[in-house]
Amino acid sequence: MSKKKNYTLGVLTSGGDAPGMNACVRAIARTAFGESINIVGVMNGYEGLINGEFKRWKNARDVGGILRRGGTVLQAQRSERFREKNGQREAIRNMNEEGIDGLITIGGDGTLNGAHAIAKQGVKVVGIPASIDNDIWGTDMAIGVDTALNTITESVDKLRDTASSHTRAFLVETMGRNNGYLAVQAGIACGAEIVLCPEFPTTVENVAEIIEDAYRRGKNHAIIIVAEGATIRSTELAEQLDALDIGFKTRVTILGHIQRGGSPTAFDRLLAARLGIRAVQVLLEGQSDVMVGLRGRDITLAPLKDVVSNTRPVNLEFYNMVRNLAQ
Ligand code: F6P
Repeated sequence: MSKKKNYTLGVLTSGGDAPGMNACVRAIARTAFGESINIVGVMNGYEGLINGEFKRWKNARDVGGILRRGGTVLQAQRSERFREKNGQREAIRNMNEEGIDGLITIGGDGTLNGAHAIAKQGVKVVGIPASIDNDIWGTDMAIGVDTALNTITESVDKLRDTASSHTRAFLVETMGRNNGYLAVQAGIACGAEIVLCPEFPTTVENVAEIIEDAYRRGKNHAIIIVAEGATIRSTELAEQLDALDIGFKTRVTILGHIQRGGSPTAFDRLLAARLGIRAVQVLLEGQSDVMVGLRGRDITLAPLKDVVSNTRPVNLEFYNMVRNLAQ
């Protein structure tokens, strides 16, 4: 890694928080200290960049104790002002005034779009994918996904206990506004009968048939995972299933923001450390307008213009696996 005297690195977290963001911030800051460069935390994501909310860290202790903490110590927001050219100009002006030479942005698609927008205006910037939705193109896994999936799995295991005691069907709603990744993976991990997600729409009648069939086969519980972005919401689906008399009585659990919290898993901490370290290296090598990501076992780079113009698809094979294993 080429050392740059008096180089100042900025880091921010933006959009919805994800477990492991703090582990990533810590890795970035400590890599910077190791390289003897200055490190500035930007509070409140792009909104803080516009407002000039900077925090200079002096040594490794300033980012101590955050590795295992969920959320983000830098705070995160979705900034409407940053979508506009005026907001971006103000942010760039503040960065220049603060002497920030390179910026690392940690977050989801909105964050990476913002990074690409300022990179096109000459800012040296590297993105790091962090979103429980795992909808970011250019990486197999984003920071936070593994923790969220483990939270869902633990929750559904508990719901299954009570479902079995009362011979009920539980509809469990997982997060993912436009994407069914968490729902499909949770469907496999939790042994669901069926998953409803935006990518593979199905009818209420089909769901009713599958659940009634499970009842007839003598199952004393049924789990239906419904992605937040599915064509029908979990509460509405439950009402319609109850009206069709499917054997089981239904209950609905919306897991909601519980999926975004909690101490990151070992996987997320490792991923966060690897991506954070690589992002610093990439900036010091003089590269910009790229995202660091995980492909297979390797940390790779993808141009931000490709990242923001593509979406990571949900795997049909995994979707089918849920049904094939629900016997
Ligand atoms: O993008 C992450 C995500 O958790 C989505 O799954 C969800 O739809 C959305 O954020 C919720 O956003 P908010 O925290 O603003 O309610």
